Amino acid sequence: MGAIKNTQIVLANRPVADIDPKTTFKFQQVSLSDELGPNEILVKVLFISLDPAMRGWMRDVRSYIRPVRIDEVMRSADVAQVIKSNNPDYKVGDLVRATCGWQEYAVLKPSEDLVKIQSFPGVSPSTYLGVLGLTGLTAYFGLFEVGEIEKKGGPNCTVVVSGAAGATGSVAAQIAKHVFGCRVIGIAGSDDKCEYLVKELGLDVALNYKSKTFFKELTAATPKLIDIFFDNTGGDILDGCLRRIAFKGRIIVCGAISTYNEAVPKGPAYYSALITQRARMEGFIVFDYAEKYGKATADMSKWIKEGKLKSRETVIQGIENTPDALVRLFKGDNTGKMLVKVAEEESKSKL
Ligand SMILES: NC(=O)c1ccc[n+]([C@@H]2O[C@H](COP(=O)([O-])OP(=O)(O)OC[C@H]3O[C@@H](n4cnc5c(N)ncnc54)[C@H](OP(=O)(O)O)[C@@H]3O)[C@@H](O)[C@H]2O)c1
Repeated sequence: MGAIKNTQIVLANRPVADIDPKTTFKFQQVSLSDELGPNEILVKVLFISLDPAMRGWMRDVRSYIRPVRIDEVMRSADVAQVIKSNNPDYKVGDLVRATCGWQEYAVLKPSEDLVKIQSFPGVSPSTYLGVLGLTGLTAYFGLFEVGEIEKKGGPNCTVVVSGAAGATGSVAAQIAKHVFGCRVIGIAGSDDKCEYLVKELGLDVALNYKSKTFFKELTAATPKLIDIFFDNTGGDILDGCLRRIAFKGRIIVCGAISTYNEAVPKGPAYYSALITQRARMEGFIVFDYAEKYGKATADMSKWIKEGKLKSRETVIQGIENTPDALVRLFKGDNTGKMLVKVAEEESKSKL
């Protein structure tokens, strides 16, 4: 095989506010040796996951994970295919989920980050970055561990989900609706997305937060107030939901995408509702529940088979479009999981 030409995208500058795909990142071509050390594997990246959290990884601040360094390959979760192996547990042709970053190839060592995945006919391997990946698990653990939906769920429980047409939100909304039978209100940024939420995913109500009358509509849609708010956006939507929180309500702080590009984010104005309603607002990181991934994945697979969980993907072609794809995530150009397709999976016989 010899040395391989590898296109990489590295972090060139830390943006203060919005990401400029032309100056924030830099492309480079490097030569990657295919001489593998003990237990190492060489993989070809097939799909790159685009995540709002990437914006946080570019900031040099204290977080749950260290920042990406300047001139380091941009971090990402990926699905990749083994093309050379020095490890008996990984055969050429196997599919893995790993943190390869924004590049075409990577040499990997076994770690808790490297997971072998099953290939099923008719199921894209990208599913392991979406509904069957960390995205789906985030929705699951947010609802179960922070929202305590097993205690609260049922027809008398009103659940509101922001970012509801996105990767995490769409899974959270469907679990609340089709597994726990709650009344579910999805919030999204376009009328088309709202139609998708009601007609395709079966939510009770969908509201466009860009509508001038959004807060009036939110009040009308929550006559019994909000028992669980699964928040992916923060900002004004969070404030609106704080004003509607029920007695002992739960706010699952999953994400705050509306604030990620702000140089100085502003806080919620109506947090005193937590006092008056004895409500709780709690953040979490999906990795906190790594020991429970097995049971969660089994539950999710069952719900997919039963038709309770549907998913969509927005797939951008070509590694060269990865910086743009990240920016588009912040513009709401995606429905469901945002991915970049870097290469086609090869049949084992061709490798
Ligand atoms: N806690 C954890 O462990 C964890 C793990 C994964 C993800 N997350 C968080 O979960 C959230 C969703 O992530 P995801 O990967 O599933 O992304 P996603 O929802 O698929 O994509 C992001 C969506 O956010 C919406 N958005 C963008 N800017 C917005 C704004 N200013 N106000 C309101 N909505 C805005 C857009 O939809 P519209 O068209 O509807 O605006 C966009 O499609 C993010 O906040 C992320 O950081 C947390």
